[in-house]
Order: sequence, then structure tokens, then C-alpha cells
Amino acid sequence: MRTMLKGYRSAAAFIFLFVVASPLCSKAETLVAGYIGAEKCAACHKGEYDGWQKSGHALILRKPTDSTANGIPLPSGFSQNDISYVIGGHRWKVLFLDKKGYLITSTPAGKGKNQYNLNSKKWVDYLPGQKTPYDCGGCHTTGYSPHGHQNGLEGIVGTWQFEGVQCEGCHGPGAAHAASTKKSDIKIIKTVCVGCHGIKSLDLIQLKGVFLEPYTEENQLLKSRMKNLLCTVCHNPHLDAEKSIKQNCESCHRKASERYRESYMFQKGIICTDCHMPPAGIVATGDPKIFRGDLKSHIFAIDPRKDFPSMTVHGETVNPGYLSVDYACTPCHNIFENRQWAVSFGAVSHRIKITTNIKIMRLQMSLALLGFLSSLVALSSAFSLKQWILPSLNKKRILSIHKHAAWITFALYVFISIICIYFHFPLSAPEKVLEMGWFLIHPINGALGLIIYSGKIVAVRKFKKGWATPGLTWGIGLSVFWLVQYATAIFSFLGR
Ligand code: HEC
Ligand code: HEC
Ligand code: HEC
Ligand code: HEC
Ligand code: HEC
Ligand code: HEC
Ligand code: HEC
Ligand code: HEC
Repeated sequence: MRTMLKGYRSAAAFIFLFVVASPLCSKAETLVAGYIGAEKCAACHKGEYDGWQKSGHALILRKPTDSTANGIPLPSGFSQNDISYVIGGHRWKVLFLDKKGYLITSTPAGKGKNQYNLNSKKWVDYLPGQKTPYDCGGCHTTGYSPHGHQNGLEGIVGTWQFEGVQCEGCHGPGAAHAASTKKSDIKIIKTVCVGCHGIKSLDLIQLKGVFLEPYTEENQLLKSRMKNLLCTVCHNPHLDAEKSIKQNCESCHRKASERYRESYMFQKGIICTDCHMPPAGIVATGDPKIFRGDLKSHIFAIDPRKDFPSMTVHGETVNPGYLSVDYACTPCHNIFENRQWAVSFGAVSHRIKITTNIKIMRLQMSLALLGFLSSLVALSSAFSLKQWILPSLNKKRILSIHKHAAWITFALYVFISIICIYFHFPLSAPEKVLEMGWFLIHPINGALGLIIYSGKIVAVRKFKKGWATPGLTWGIGLSVFWLVQYATAIFSFLGR
């Protein structure tokens, strides 16, 4: 896998040089000439510069002493002086180069623990212990040449003019333009993105397990139904991803948007990109079980009927142009849902209304809360509260409160059980037994309820003699039981 990755990367570096460098200058030696750096452009293009400065393009490769690299943790045992460059640390992860320019793959404590993931705030292993040169400059620097070693560091393959993807990384050398300020002295290459955001054969979308490889945005877009759009139709390339969106989905998909506006999920704040651009790619972290990676995908269209793995052929690569519901829905509906569930809604995903399920579950939650509260009343009546709280009540009144509260909770118990049986009994789908885990359906819960209530009824009958002790015992039993019910209800509600 690793060698293949390297293959992709060198191929990508080649594509980069070919696609980006060749239109800029026909002679290879002029490639490194004429670069002046982003700071010089800032004088006349403050808007572009200010946005760019805070974006990943500017920050992908930094000196550890760079003020913007301040908050980034260093691998254990290393100080700023032991590190020549910091890679990334803007959005997903950070890697480091040692004094000789090799990737740091071991710390004094041992191999690995050399990659810091920003999301999980954890150190993980990246090629632990392997001597790995930094051959990634083609996509991380400006004015790159694959020959030689930057600053004479033997671990670095190639040289560059500036760290990071600067203005001139996309617009080409700008010295002449800065002097003349003429349009004709600088290029705008709208397809420049493919050099770094598209790899190997653009006919395929490369996969890493169930996830899309990074650097494949172009591969994905070309396979999508929106293949005719350039990246720059949606993105302003001078800004962070979130701020960069020039045109949102609604502006081109009026009808679909209007339809979606009626959906229950719309009211809950779920937006187009949540389903149509799920994080199906991976840079640092991902959970394959729920198909959630950390890099938003650019395939867009969803085919609810397509079987998983809709993206793979022989476990490797494919070109379907559609996401399956595994990617579109499971990242959020992960706990009790299964694929079939998502498929059943797939085709009407824009019109999802609040389902009876939710209404019933809300009812169950309210009833369980009510049951819990009245069981507390039953319980408190058992502690002779007369003296402190209700001095006006005599023993008889307290006994009757206790009895009523206990019977109310019993009535609720029966009522909820009926609801459960009526609405949820899984005649057609046995696997739903657990999904709806409740009362009679959930065997432990149900048995517990029956024991408590049969005990309670016997206890209530005996109250006439001494009520405090049985009242206390069964009051506690009741409260605990209802607390469990309430927790179960909330858990299954939130866990859908
Ligand atoms: C001294 C001021 C100045 C500096 C420095 C400068 N530019 Fe410009 N730039 C301009 C002006 C003025 C225009 C508008 C030219 C026109 O409309 O004819 C322009 C236009 C551009 C355009 C748009 C070209 C087009 O086809 O529409 C780009 C891209 C650009 N500059 C990039 C850069 C980059 C990259 C740098 C730094 C390497 C840079 N500029 C440095 C003054 C400057
Ligand atoms: C084909 C161009 C390309 C090559 C080659 C490349 N990268 Fe990247 N790198 C990217 C892009 C693009 C991203 C952003 C993810 C995306 O858009 O898919 C990225 C992101 C990263 C990040 C995360 C940045 C952050 O802020 O979280 C790290 C770290 C990184 N690359 C390290 C490497 C290393 C190490 C190598 C060499 C072994 C390498 N890359 C080779 C293009 C490339
Ligand atoms: C990731 C590639 C990339 C980087 C980095 C980049 N640009 Fe651009 N720039 C573009 C592209 C592509 C366009 C054309 C945008 C479009 O058509 O919407 C553009 C457009 C421009 C324009 C014309 C704006 C207009 O409204 O027509 C200027 C000026 C400019 N860039 C300056 C800069 C400066 C200054 C920097 C550095 C601070 C910079 N760019 C960095 C890709 C880039
Ligand atoms: C020279 C290589 C290169 C080129 C050309 C390039 N990118 Fe990138 N791009 C990267 C790298 C590397 C990253 C990862 C930066 C990070 O997050 O640290 C990145 C990240 C991004 C991000 C997310 C970064 C953020 O700050 O949110 C967007 C969006 C993006 N690129 C869009 C574009 C577009 C659009 C173009 C073409 C106009 C383009 N890129 C051209 C290398 C490149
Ligand atoms: C600049 C306009 C534009 C923007 C912005 C845009 N789209 Fe599209 N979209 C198109 C076009 C054009 C097509 C191709 C229509 C066709 O194939 O009939 C398309 C196709 C699609 C399709 C496939 C339609 C089908 O019939 O299967 C989906 C899904 C989609 N877009 C979702 C999105 C989402 C989600 C966004 C926001 C991230 C978005 N689009 C933003 C123009 C746009
Ligand atoms: C709950 C997830 C979800 C959300 C949110 C969502 N969609 Fe969809 N969308 C789907 C699914 C699933 C399909 C495929 C339906 C089919 O093929 O029967 C689809 C189909 C489409 C299509 C192609 C078919 C058509 O109706 O034209 C477009 C375009 C589209 N969505 C755009 C949007 C836009 C724009 C938004 C935001 C306003 C949005 N979607 C929000 C799940 C979603
Ligand atoms: C139809 C519109 C559209 C097109 C075309 C498009 N993007 Fe995006 N892109 C988006 C949206 C929307 C986001 C999510 C922004 C956000 O995080 O809110 C995004 C996010 C990204 C990200 C950040 C991913 C992440 O997980 O944070 C990168 C990198 C990126 N796009 C690169 C590209 C590149 C390169 C191209 C061209 C090959 C491209 N995009 C084409 C709409 C588009
Ligand atoms: C970004 C997260 C997210 C994604 C992706 C997502 N949903 Fe949802 N969905 C929600 C939220 C939040 C609710 C509201 C739940 C509530 O009211 O408690 C919801 C509610 C629903 C409901 C109604 C409530 C129910 O459980 O009966 C259905 C049906 C549903 N989603 C189906 C889908 C389908 C199908 C997809 C994929 C096409 C999908 N969702 C993708 C977050 C998401």
C-alpha cells in the first residue's frame, strides 16, 4: 500500500509539474526565477493576501519558529531546535521533519507517536521507525523543483522558493507583474487545482479501505454529475474551505431546495452538504463502521438503491459517481439504524416528515418522566414527611397519597406497555427488538417491572398495618425502576 501511495504521489508531482509548471514557462530553468513571495503581492492585493494567509494553502509547510505554528504541539522529546519543518496542523494533522529533513518517525521513547491528529488531539503512528525522505514538496511549496535538496538537507527531495502554496504557486512567478502591474504579466489558471487535488489516473477514485483517498477532489468531481463545474465555481481559492464558498447549493438547485425546506431534517438544521458531501474521505481519522472520515467528498449525487460497497471494485478503486446511503446517512444515524432503514427513506430524503416513531418516543419519554416523578411522591410519603413538610396531613392522608402515586405509576406502566406493543412490536422486523428496547420488549426491563409491581401490589394491601417499611422498600424500587425507564427512553431517542 505504501509503495503504491508513493507511486500516486510521484505521479501527482509529475502531473503537477506538467500541468502547472509547463504552461507557465516552457524552459525548466525559468521555473525558479522570478518568484518574489506573497508578502510582495500583499502591497497591492491586500484582500487576497489577508484571506490566503490564514488558509491551509499558506500554512501547509512552516518553520517551527513561525509565529502561526505556535500552538502546535511537538513530538515528545523534541524541541523547536530539533525540527526543520512543521507539515500541516491547520485542519487535520501535523507531521514533522528532523534537522536533516527526514520525517520524524521515532521519538526518544520509541517508534511512532509522530503524527498529531487535531480532531482527536492524539499522537498516532505514521510509518513508525522508517527512514522517510520528504518528497512531498511538489504540493506543499511554491517554485518547486524536484532536483537537489532544500537548504542542503539530505532528507528533503527537491528545492523550492517559498514554503506553502503561495500566490505564485497558483499564479506563476510574479516579479514581472509586480513591476509592471499589467494583467498580461500574470496568469490565472483556473484548472490549477488538479495538480495537487487530483492524483494518478483521473478516471478512477482511489480508496483507502472504505474511504476516499485525500488529494482526489478532482477525481471525484470529474466522476460526479457536476463534472462540468470548475473548483472555482464554488470556491474562492484565497480562503479557508468554510469561508471560500461563493455559490451555495441552493443558488443552482432551487427546486430541490424548496422541496427540502419542508423536511423535518431541515428544521433540525441538517443542510445539503451534510448528506451530499459527507466526510467520505480520510486524511487523519475515521470510523469505517459508520463510514465517517474527516474529508468532505465531492461526488454529490446519492443513489439510495446502490448497494455498498458502491465505491469499490475488487476492494480497490471505482468510478461510480454516486454515494451510497452508507456514506450519506450512517455517519449521523449510526446506533440502531441499518442500511435497509436508510434505503427505505433514501428516495424521499428531501421530504422526510417527522415520523410517528419520534412522536411515540417523545410520548414515552414524557410518560416515563411522569412515572419517575410520581414514584418519587410514593417514595417520599414513606419517609414520615409529616413532621417536616406536610404537618397538616395525618397518617391516613399520607397513606392515600402513597397508594395513589403507586397506582398512577402502575397505570402508566401498563399504558406504555400497550403503546410499545401496538406501535413497535417487531412483527415484520425481528431485529427491531433491540432497537426499541423497552418494557415488555426488553426482557430485563419487562421482568423487573413485573416483579416490582407485583411486589408493590402486595405491599399496598399490607399498608394498613405498618406502612413505612414496605413503603420505603417498594418506593425505592419504583423510583429506580422509573429512572432506568427514563434513561432508556432518552438513550434510545438520542441514539436513533
Ligand atoms: C504594485 C502593485 C502590484 C503588485 C506588487 C502585485 N500586483 Fe497583481 N495586480 C495589480 C494591478 C493594478 C492589477 C490589475 C491589472 C489590470 O486590471 O489591468 C493586478 C492584477 C492581478 C491579477 C489579476 C490578473 C487578471 O488576469 O485579471 C492577479 C492574478 C494578480 N494581480 C496577482 C498578483 C500576484 C500573485 C502578485 C505577487 C507576486 C501581485 N499580483 C503583485 C497590482 C499589483
Ligand atoms: C498530490 C499533492 C500532494 C502530495 C504529493 C502530498 N500532499 Fe499532503 N496534502 C495535499 C492536499 C491537497 C491536502 C489537503 C487534503 C485534501 O484536500 O485532500 C494535504 C494535506 C496534508 C496534511 C494535513 C494538513 C493539515 O492542515 O491538516 C499533511 C500533514 C500532509 N498533507 C502531509 C503530506 C506528506 C508527509 C506528504 C509526502 C509523503 C504529502 N502530504 C504529499 C496534497 C499533497
Ligand atoms: C490555490 C491557488 C491560488 C492561490 C494560492 C492564490 N490564488 Fe489568486 N486566484 C486563483 C484562481 C484560480 C483565481 C481565479 C478565480 C476565479 O476565477 O474565481 C485567482 C484570482 C486572483 C485574482 C483576481 C481576482 C478577481 O477578482 O478577478 C487576484 C488579484 C489574485 N488571485 C491574487 C492572488 C494573491 C495576491 C494571492 C496570494 C496572497 C493569490 N492570488 C493566491 C488561484 C490562487
Ligand atoms: C500546489 C498545490 C496546490 C494547488 C495548486 C491547490 N491546492 Fe488546495 N490545498 C493544497 C494543500 C497542500 C492543502 C492542505 C492545506 C492544509 O489544510 O494545511 C490544500 C487545501 C485546500 C482547501 C482546504 C484548505 C482550507 O484552508 O480550508 C481548499 C478549499 C483547497 N485547497 C482548494 C483549492 C482550489 C480551489 C485550488 C485551485 C484553484 C487549489 N486548492 C489548488 C495544495 C494545493
Ligand atoms: C453553479 C451551479 C451549481 C452549484 C453551486 C451546485 N450545483 Fe449541483 N449541479 C449543477 C449542475 C449543472 C448539475 C448537472 C445537472 C444534470 O446532470 O442534470 C448538478 C447536479 C447535481 C446533482 C445530481 C443531480 C441528479 O440529477 O442526479 C446533485 C445531487 C447536486 N448537483 C448537488 C449539489 C449540491 C449538494 C451542491 C452544493 C454543495 C450543488 N449541487 C451545487 C449545478 C450546480
Ligand atoms: C437527508 C439527506 C439529504 C439532504 C439534507 C439533502 N438531500 Fe438532496 N438528495 C438526497 C438523496 C438520498 C437523494 C437521492 C434521491 C433519489 O435518487 O431518489 C437526493 C437527491 C438530490 C438531487 C437530485 C434529484 C433531484 O431531486 O433533483 C439534488 C439536485 C439534490 N438532492 C440537491 C439537494 C440540495 C440543494 C439540498 C439542500 C437544500 C439537499 N439536496 C439536501 C438526500 C439529501
Ligand atoms: C459544487 C460546489 C463545489 C465544487 C465544484 C467544489 N467544491 Fe470543494 N467544497 C464545496 C463545499 C460546499 C465544501 C465544504 C465547505 C465547508 O466546510 O463548509 C467544500 C470543501 C472542500 C475542501 C475541504 C474539505 C474538508 O473536509 O474540509 C477542499 C479541500 C475542497 N473543497 C477542494 C475542492 C477542489 C480541489 C475542487 C475542484 C476539484 C472543489 N473543491 C470543487 C463545494 C464545492
Ligand atoms: C448530519 C447528520 C445527519 C445526516 C447526514 C442525516 N441525518 Fe437524518 N436526521 C438527523 C437529525 C439531527 C434528525 C432529527 C432527529 C431528532 O429529531 O431527534 C434526523 C431525522 C431523520 C429522520 C426522521 C426521524 C426518525 O428517526 O424517524 C429520518 C427518517 C432521517 N433522518 C433519515 C435520514 C436519511 C435517509 C439520511 C441519508 C440520506 C439522513 N437522515 C442523513 C441528522 C442527520
